[in-house]
Amino acid sequence: MTGLPDPLRVEPIIGTLDSTVRLPGSKSLTNRALITAALASGTSTLTGVGLSDDTEAMMGALRALGITSEVDGTTVVVHGRGGALDVPADELDANQSGTSARFLLPLLALAGSGTLTGHEQMRARPMGDLTTALRGLGAVIESDTLPITVASGITGGAVSIGAEVSSQFISALLLSAPAMPEGLHLTLVGTPVSQPYIDMTVSVMEAFGAAVTVAPGHIQVDGTGYDPQAYAIEPDASTATYPLAAAAIVGGRVTVTGLGSASLQGDAEFVTRVLEPMGTAVFVDDDSIEVRGSGLLDPLTVDLGDMSDTAPTFAALAAKARGESSVTGIGFIRTTKESDRVQASVDELSRLGIKSSVDADGFTVHGGQHQLAAVDTYEDHRMAMGMALVGLTGGPVEVNDPGCVAKTFPGYWDFLETLRAEARSTPLVLAIDGPAGSGKSTVAKLISTKLRLPHLDTGAMYRAVTYAVLQAGVSLDDHGAVSAAAEQATIVVGPSSVVIDDVDVTTAIREPDVTAAVSTVAAIAGVRVVLAESQRNWARARGAAVLEGRDIGTAVFPDATLKIYLDASVDERARRRAGETGDDDLEAMKAAIAERDRLDMSRETDPLTIAEGAEVIDTTLLTIDGVVDAIARSWSSRAGA
Ligand code: DC
Repeated sequence: MTGLPDPLRVEPIIGTLDSTVRLPGSKSLTNRALITAALASGTSTLTGVGLSDDTEAMMGALRALGITSEVDGTTVVVHGRGGALDVPADELDANQSGTSARFLLPLLALAGSGTLTGHEQMRARPMGDLTTALRGLGAVIESDTLPITVASGITGGAVSIGAEVSSQFISALLLSAPAMPEGLHLTLVGTPVSQPYIDMTVSVMEAFGAAVTVAPGHIQVDGTGYDPQAYAIEPDASTATYPLAAAAIVGGRVTVTGLGSASLQGDAEFVTRVLEPMGTAVFVDDDSIEVRGSGLLDPLTVDLGDMSDTAPTFAALAAKARGESSVTGIGFIRTTKESDRVQASVDELSRLGIKSSVDADGFTVHGGQHQLAAVDTYEDHRMAMGMALVGLTGGPVEVNDPGCVAKTFPGYWDFLETLRAEARSTPLVLAIDGPAGSGKSTVAKLISTKLRLPHLDTGAMYRAVTYAVLQAGVSLDDHGAVSAAAEQATIVVGPSSVVIDDVDVTTAIREPDVTAAVSTVAAIAGVRVVLAESQRNWARARGAAVLEGRDIGTAVFPDATLKIYLDASVDERARRRAGETGDDDLEAMKAAIAERDRLDMSRETDPLTIAEGAEVIDTTLLTIDGVVDAIARSWSSRAGA
């Protein structure tokens, strides 16, 4: 690729991601469908094709075998000849494409003779299990690495193949099998690596009318050919890991369309097997995958044996996680992929100052702050795309030979810039305000679970400051001293705990002395300024969140995405509070609530009022579920818009 600076500097994205993206078609599916279409008895139309160096290599080689095709945008029309192939006049060139090299070799054997070559890097990658199997079917083949010359063809039959090095060898034989007059009976020796890729191959074959029977350790394919099809290629699930991981790293939302729960690609499970356990909210439906991240990642140890192409993405996530992460089950990629991605990930993260080490069948990374460095990419698109993610927060990184992404995603660097351009500088906020006992806390907790958004009870912060100043004996009339106490305190409000200056005050802040004094403390302007700013920072760091309080929609986030004002009659609120506290003096409770309302609504700074544009919900006669559902609906329409 020309015109790119080398190294290319990837700068952090400030703000929260907010993008819906359609990615290029799956390289794996495209190269499989190109083969099935080439062998089909007529013209097939492939849509959503991911055009890249790899698919170019495949189409070029097919042309040399006498299969013509026309490309129009992302649609490719392929004129299959029912399994008839020309003996190529020149060498076939798989370039750097592993799937092309592997899938084309049996085709060459079907054609009868010819030579297959490839880029230097491809020549070093293994082909031996495949050449051995083809010899077993009667082909005469020289060499077990590219260039490979086939001197005599095959007609099918029964053969065994080693399954533990690369699933691509198995897929290669399967894809050609319907064009073998005798069909193919394949016995798999050992446990196949990357089983999802074999499943994908069988799915594409069946979509083109092949007769495939899968049994443990065996696959039978009848020599009944392929029917031409109109076939839509799914977006590439391995490529989708980069923007989805970006949402987890930067914070915010990224939705990938065209990929969902019915995906044929094993890598589509990256979100549930990696991003979710690292603390990111994941939503998968039929036709989309959405990730909402907070920028805070938990460490994870995971076996990526069946989705090993995602290892460089995992390396970047691990570099950002708060602790030590490991990947296992991927020892085999050290020799079969574009580069030794185990060693390369460790070397490049180390160059960035991230502590990491090679393990027996994977690597371990200790997440932390990185330093600026130019990472090497080993002519490996996935190393470039993965390592670039490290630069999205905490400081830039530089990427050497950025053009290597053309192998599968020529538009990757522009794509990252689009994510940056679409990022929001303000977080998505669901503000829930209202008086005591209106149902705020219950509703806020339920809605945050339902929407999988983090939740902040800002009242707990005012209570924590109140507790601290009462403990310290500070006079509540000394506004300067109370404000200073708020300023100096470190308050952490978790899902089920409240801690101020390392003291757990979860229970203490609900005691009557704090409840009686909190409205007085909350009326002090200096306290409000400090706490509001810390609430804003909390939400910004998370990208999207639910905040409940008295002034969220009016003062803390007057631009909140959705503002809800919950209310209920004083009688009902007193009844609810009495239920919570076990206090049966309902009249006293009513008086206390009314007094707190008066103080909160009449204070000078940011009094409790209905924010402009707020949806007012009187919960007196409503069920909690009804209220939560109504808010969820409003949120979906606002936050999605
Ligand atoms: O929701 P709660 O009862 O825990 O709130 C305690 C007090 O804190 C409440 O009486 C008013 C004050 N508060 C506030 O002034 N602003 C907020 N955003 C949240 C609570």
